[in-house]
Amino acid sequence: MATRIGIGLLGLGTVGAGVASILSSPEGRHPLIADLQIAKVAVRDLNRPRPIELDPSLLTTDPQAVVDDPNVQVVVEVMGGIEPARTLIMRAIGAGKSVVTANKAVIARHGEEIAAAAAAAGVYVLIEAAVGGGIPIIEPLKQSLGGNRIQRVTGIINGTTNYILTRMAQEGANYNAVLKDAQDLGYAEADPAADVDGLDAADKIAILSGLAFGGPIDRSAIPTAGISALQSRDVDYATQLDYGVKLLATAERVDSPNTSTADSSTSQPLAVSVQPTLVPTDHPLAGVNGVNNAILVEGDPIGRVMFYGPGAGAGPTASAVVADILNIAGIRQLNDNDGNLDPLLAASSWRACHLVESNAIRQRNYVRFNTDDAPGVIGRIGSCFGDQGVSIQSIVQFDASDAGAEIVVITHEVSNGAMQAALSAITALPEVRGVAAHLGCL
Ligand code: NAP
Ligand code: HSE
Repeated sequence: MATRIGIGLLGLGTVGAGVASILSSPEGRHPLIADLQIAKVAVRDLNRPRPIELDPSLLTTDPQAVVDDPNVQVVVEVMGGIEPARTLIMRAIGAGKSVVTANKAVIARHGEEIAAAAAAAGVYVLIEAAVGGGIPIIEPLKQSLGGNRIQRVTGIINGTTNYILTRMAQEGANYNAVLKDAQDLGYAEADPAADVDGLDAADKIAILSGLAFGGPIDRSAIPTAGISALQSRDVDYATQLDYGVKLLATAERVDSPNTSTADSSTSQPLAVSVQPTLVPTDHPLAGVNGVNNAILVEGDPIGRVMFYGPGAGAGPTASAVVADILNIAGIRQLNDNDGNLDPLLAASSWRACHLVESNAIRQRNYVRFNTDDAPGVIGRIGSCFGDQGVSIQSIVQFDASDAGAEIVVITHEVSNGAMQAALSAITALPEVRGVAAHLGCL
């Protein structure tokens, strides 16, 4: 008979309850699930009503007791936050226990330290649920796409903001009301500013970037803009110009004369960013709506491959957590957990990576100017762009009234440095009142 594997849950909230629900109903699922047993569960409030009933003697308010419990062989960290989550993960590793976590905030900041400790201890720290909710993207990047030279990873990787943007665009729904719905549905982070300010997406693209390009990057240096300042008129104008607006996270290899793709000893420059971006309506990412996420990976020789599915919520996220538990359980049952880690499952990095200066990142841009409705203003704006070598794809005056005009410009691809120089010159024009919006554009 197979040995039972004790699971210690750190957290029984949205994701933890989803995991407990799968583990408590093994019928019709992978046979190994029947060998997994919830041994101990940490919560903050023992009296809080839960969507799943567990034996009350399993619950504790002491998360360290879960990690230290001799009946716990795999620790599942689904409590969130940086501390005490990081310390508990390190403690579990120190005790020789593998860890499954959905916590992208911890992994994006402390992933290197955690991976090094896990490798030294001969245990796994698996993170499939940390990016893309239920979408398998971590293991594909580690394993299935390993033969590719990845050029670019572009993703809608925050379910809350995609849900908000979709309902605002499709129903004209109110921002705060939809955010409240996203919280009630269990999509949002404990502090939803992490979602709407783009920080959660920045954590996730830092993790994807590390896997795709083979080395950790400085999470704190990622240029990040969320949707909290996005105005509905820009979504309307984008629609009229045949675009949708999505919060996109992008990580792209920047090849410079000093960087050889064959030489892993040189540091790989990467352009990484998170920002609201206009997406042409016929682009594969444009049809990704609601809480769904999608990650488009471009590599050589595969070309483009897109991973799509529910990006947040109890069931989808628990699906990813349980997949990781099963990987670890399968290896344990084969008695191969003696310090010889499966190189495809274990974390690895094979080169140094660094972010390029934000001014060197190249992209297309959407800009909305508030101006006087004066003759010649479009021409003068065009000249300022031309002086900096910024080529314009379209320039449209949308709304002329006594109060002024709104001029919307979409540029061709240009460096952020040239764009900023042009915007400085334009805002110095006497007819220009200011830049009302500046978004990316695919
Ligand atoms: P949640 O609903 O707020 O649940 C957190 C759980 O952890 C709660 O059960 C809470 O106890 C417990 N907890 C928190 N701090 C604790 C402490 N110091 N000691 C003991 N227990 C503690 O959060 P969630 O939405 O499940 O998210 C959990 C993690 O998964 C986060 O890292 C999040 O980023 C990640 N994630 C979430 C989703 C999603 O869709 N929600 C998707 C992917 C990844 P009480 O219940 O008693 O308060
Ligand atoms: N708050 C996150 C989101 C949860 O909305 O995408 C999934 O990581």
